[in-house]
Amino acid sequence: MSLTNQLQHKNSEYSLELKDAIEGMSKYQDKYFDMAIVDPPYGASTKANWNLDKKHNLEGFGGEWKLSSSSWDLLKGHESFEFTFQWIKELKRLIKPTGSIWIHSTYHNSGIVNVLSQIIGLEIINEVVWYKRNAFPNLSNRRLTASHETILWLHTGEKKRQYYFDHETAKKVYFIEDKLKMPEKQLRTVWDIPNNKSKSEIIFGNHPTQKPLRLIERMLLISAQKGWKLLVPFAGSGTELLAGLDFGMEVHGFEINKEYYDLANKRISHYFEEKVNQLKFSNG
Ligand SMILES: C[S@@+](CC[C@H](N)C(=O)[O-])C[C@H]1O[C@@H](n2cnc3c(N)ncnc32)[C@H](O)[C@@H]1O
Repeated sequence: MSLTNQLQHKNSEYSLELKDAIEGMSKYQDKYFDMAIVDPPYGASTKANWNLDKKHNLEGFGGEWKLSSSSWDLLKGHESFEFTFQWIKELKRLIKPTGSIWIHSTYHNSGIVNVLSQIIGLEIINEVVWYKRNAFPNLSNRRLTASHETILWLHTGEKKRQYYFDHETAKKVYFIEDKLKMPEKQLRTVWDIPNNKSKSEIIFGNHPTQKPLRLIERMLLISAQKGWKLLVPFAGSGTELLAGLDFGMEVHGFEINKEYYDLANKRISHYFEEKVNQLKFSNG
């Protein structure tokens, strides 16, 4: 067995499957995982094509809105609701009440995620606003510059509230880039974390919605424990899996797109290779 494989088996376990997340999650038994970090498809790039028909006469809108796209566009919103319902239901079943769940969203899906979580019985611990100070400018000049994402922190224990929160660390910690967090002051729900990635994060290419590692590291720092099992239903380029591995967790993920699956695997293999090199170096 190679040194890389030995290291994988010794220090941590991980799996990444090229598979639909709902199908993948269904094979795990109830309460198998301690934590989930979920960065779902947002539905932001929907091709829905609502047009104002020339013969319109809708009161207040100057005309009748007509859906000029095909019916699959109409179904898409409904399907997205159904899909979100399915994965949130699985999270409720799979995550232990002593752990927690983090869900990323934008305005496209944050309402759906919030409402469905509450209906399904996940309690919201906090809603965090990830403030992206260096957000890309709005090129159309028809909207404000989108500079934040909404992140829900939730738990499955309902009123019992057994979830883990390292309050001491959250208070003590200081992040050099975060202009809102003062050392020895409680961590607020607005996190000032620039969205740029280091060279090593994009060495094998990048994903269109790739998260910076330090965002995920902050979630882990305050709410995770070493040795825990982390579920990442929508792995993308593998950011959450990598952060979990580095924290000392056992990580399991799914990704449906082969290109992103390959990218995540490359990043993870590289991570283990680097660890091996560090070991060789420290052993002389
Ligand atoms: C928002 S991105 C995640 C990006 C990730 N956080 C990162 O840092 O790279 C969501 C990912 O979910 C994948 N995806 C979409 N539907 C899926 C499904 N049903 N099962 C598994 N993965 C899916 C997409 O291909 C995409 O890579």
